[in-house]
This record gives sequence, structure tokens and C-alpha cells, in this order.
Amino acid sequence: MQNILLTGGAGYIGSHIAVELINAGYFPVIIDNLANSSEKSVERVGKITGVTPKFYRGDCRDEKLLDKIFVEAQISCVIHLAGLKAVGESVEKPLEYYDNNLNATIALCRSMKKAGVKNFIFSSSATVYNSKNPMPLSEDSVTGGCTNPYGWTKYMIEQILSGVQKANPDWSVTLLRYFNPVGAHKSGLIGENPRGIPNNLMPFITQVATGKREKLNIFGNDYPTKDGTCIRDYIHVLDLAKGHVKAIEYTLNHNGVEVFNLGTGQGYSVLDMVEAFQKANNIKLPYTFAPRRAGDLTECYSTPAKANKILGWKAEETLETMCADSWNWQRQNPNGYEE
Ligand code: NAD
Ligand code: UFG
Repeated sequence: MQNILLTGGAGYIGSHIAVELINAGYFPVIIDNLANSSEKSVERVGKITGVTPKFYRGDCRDEKLLDKIFVEAQISCVIHLAGLKAVGESVEKPLEYYDNNLNATIALCRSMKKAGVKNFIFSSSATVYNSKNPMPLSEDSVTGGCTNPYGWTKYMIEQILSGVQKANPDWSVTLLRYFNPVGAHKSGLIGENPRGIPNNLMPFITQVATGKREKLNIFGNDYPTKDGTCIRDYIHVLDLAKGHVKAIEYTLNHNGVEVFNLGTGQGYSVLDMVEAFQKANNIKLPYTFAPRRAGDLTECYSTPAKANKILGWKAEETLETMCADSWNWQRQNPNGYEE
């Protein structure tokens, strides 16, 4: 069985990837400092699959710990998810974001070099694309011109990894640009667990549905879209996780740097999302229109054609299952992983 190192593997996306790795016959080894997660997610992965990942609590900037992990476990491929990800917070705390996200990546690359591990998959984001691109975004769309430090860390890490691969031609680097992950595992045992007031749409919606928040504020209804609200490419986290299994196969069998969008290619508005949530769960969702949120793009959606063709991967879940599965998780865990 091949071991895959998941940095940040206790988090929302990492825990779902761990399940899909086990389903595909890989063994996940996780390092996470639990800055934005709970070790309970790792236990729950064990509950779902019958296999509990190996867990190291620690920081990816701790190169000695990484060295130890690479000695203790024979790692075939690294999936680097560890990072801070709140856009607004990154504007307030730029140094924390640059330190955490960049230094974790640098320590990881150094440690991999020492250990002779050459396969790297990076959790990048649609945020690396320039806001002036026409839609849909393809991997050739223009990048850069990011509007916040979080986005710049993703952009810079893509540059760092490309440079490392150029200097080490036997490395294989796969950059996965995620669009808007939502949903949860069908069991309702793992899901998104934001701390404090959620920034993102779906966790805010599910907290309105539990009664924790009074109503959803829809940021802007005067955008030039069909109903005036912004358009995004929401992708079920299960589809996203399965994309990583395909990306491992690809990464293990190629050298070089390759970029893939992981999205559905479908753009949905905030109001589409509200309607789908109400319909899928038979819940009335109170909402009100609020002013635009600074920095929001009118539209952001992918063409996933490259991943469809080269990885042989395609998102299969629907907006309805994204809404039903998000609610199933939140309903069973109204306080996330806290009792
Ligand atoms: P998450 O916060 O749930 O997971 C990230 C994990 O990394 C957390 O468990 C956190 O504790 C851990 N972590 C952070 N810094 C660390 C460090 N220095 N050392 C060890 N662990 C550390 O977030 P997520 O939604 O699962 O996102 C995973 C990755 O995907 C992130 O890199 C994120 O930027 C990227 N991404 C997420 C989205 C999204 O909308 N969720 C979109 C695009 C890209
Ligand atoms: N929205 C609301 N009310 C809310 C929350 C969100 O109306 O309470 C709207 C936003 O204005 C936006 C849409 O819902 O129009 C989606 O917002 P999210 O915050 O869920 O997602 P974003 O597309 O703004 O951001 C996400 C990630 C970022 C990443 C970006 C691009 O959170 O990390 O996608 O990949 F940078």
C-alpha cells in the first residue's frame, strides 16, 4: 500500500481526501497543527472507512518533524493542503499568512528533497486568476493581480513549486486550482467546521438553517447577472476529493509541472444556491439583500475540460446533493466537532 502525506489533512477538504484515498487503496499520513481543525475529523475518517490515518500533530514549518515523518513513513506523494485560508483575515494579518503559507511550503520542499520524495500536489485556488479574465477560466487564463495576501500566497507558492521542479526535473508537481468547495461526506460524519462567523456562503446558510444565525445577508443584488447576485462554480467536496485520487495517478506517472482546474464548469448565483438549499431540504431560509462585499467578483467559474480529458475526472454531484449533504452534516453536528 502506498502512503500519501496530507499536510492540513485534518481540515475540511483534507479529511474528505483521506476517505477517498483509503477507498482507492492508499494510506493517508496526516500532519496538521489543528490551527483550524480538530483531531476528531481524523477519528471520523476511521469510523467511515475502518482505517484510521496516521496522525502527527505539528506545524509544517517544523522541518525536523517533517524529516522524521519522511523517515518513519515511506511517502509516495505529498498533497499540500496546510495553509491559512480566510481572505479577510489575510488582509488584516499579512505577515501571518505569508509566514505560514510560504514557509510551510519551503520547509516541505526541503524535507522532501532530503528524503528523495518527488511527487507534489498543491491545493491552489481560483483566486490566482486575474479578475479581468473572460469566463470561463481555463488553465491558460491570466494569473496574478491578486487582491489580497491569501491569494498572493497561492500565486507565490505556484511560482516556488514551478521553480523547484525546474531545478529538479525528476520532480512531478501538480497544481490543482479549486473553485468553491461545498457539501460534506454522505455519512454526515465529516464536513466544514468554520470557527466563529462563517465567511463563506454554504456554512453561513447551514448555520441560518440550524437557527444559529438569524438570516442570510446576500452581498449585492445589483450585479450584471441574471438575478443580480454573484455567480460561482460550487463543487461538491466529494468530487473534489476524487479529483485528488486521479491527480495522484497522474503525478506518479509524469514529470514536470501541470495545472488543473477542479470545478464543475457550471456557474450558479447566490439566489440559485438559496433556492436549491430550500428545495433539497424543505427548509425556509430567511435572507435579506445587503451591500456588496468588498473584493467580490461578479462571476467566477471554470472550464474543467483539461481535468476531464487528462485526468479522466468529472464532477458528478448536483447542486441539490451539495445542499442536502451540507445540511445533513450540519444537522447532525450543529456545533461542528465540538460536543
Ligand atoms: P481548512 O482550514 O479546513 O484546512 C487547512 C488545514 O491546514 C487546517 O486543518 C489547519 O489546521 C492546517 N494548517 C494550517 N497551517 C498549518 C501549518 N503551518 N502546519 C500544519 N497545519 C496547518 O481548509 P480547507 O478548506 O480544507 O482548505 C484546504 C486547502 O485548500 C487550503 O490550502 C486552502 O487554501 C485550499 N483551498 C480551499 C478552498 C475553499 O474554499 N475551502 C478554495 C481553494 C483552495
Ligand atoms: N455570500 C453572501 N453572503 C454570505 C457569504 C457569501 O452573499 O454570507 C456571497 C458572496 O458575496 C459571493 C458568494 O456568496 O458572491 C460566494 O462567497 P464565498 O465567500 O463562499 O466564496 P468566494 O467565491 O468569495 O471565495 C472562495 C474562497 C476563497 C477563494 C475564492 C476563489 O472562500 O478562499 O473562492 O477561489 F479565494
